[in-house]
Amino acid sequence: MKKILLLCTLLLVTVIACNKKKEENEKQNVMADQIAQGEKLFNERTCASCHTLDNNDVGPSIKEIVNTYQEQNKDIIKFLKGEIKHPIVEQDSSQVEVMKNNIEEFIKNLSDAELQAISAYMMDVAK
Ligand code: HEC
Repeated sequence: MKKILLLCTLLLVTVIACNKKKEENEKQNVMADQIAQGEKLFNERTCASCHTLDNNDVGPSIKEIVNTYQEQNKDIIKFLKGEIKHPIVEQDSSQVEVMKNNIEEFIKNLSDAELQAISAYMMDVAK
């Protein structure tokens, strides 16, 4: 009897451990999907033509944007939604105008989930 009880306990522990692992894997998959979707949008919506990973060519680099946002504890999604009135990475007014036109042209029809995906992608590549 004792043996059976022990076996059952073992089985239960194994099942719980497996489920936990499955949940973690699923979470990681969801994140990987989100990042992949973000990458696709970043290219399709032309962001990539002005924002590269390291170079401040036309617009600030993805790394500079992500670092500045993290340092100041700000949310990229809010900026993309037009909720941050004063850009924090680059304040030169002509530059700000360039980006503002983009928000109006390429971003306004994106859903919250799509904006989240773009932000997740930017944070992931900048790591
Ligand atoms: C035509 C060039 C161009 C395109 C296309 C472009 N950007 Fe920008 N972006 C800029 C410039 C220039 C700045 C600097 C001005 C500023 O910070 O607002 C900037 C700034 C930013 C910032 C920082 C804002 C801040 O607080 O300073 C983010 C975030 C950003 N862009 C994301 C994007 C995303 C996402 C896309 C694609 C949907 C995109 N950009 C498309 C030129 C561009």
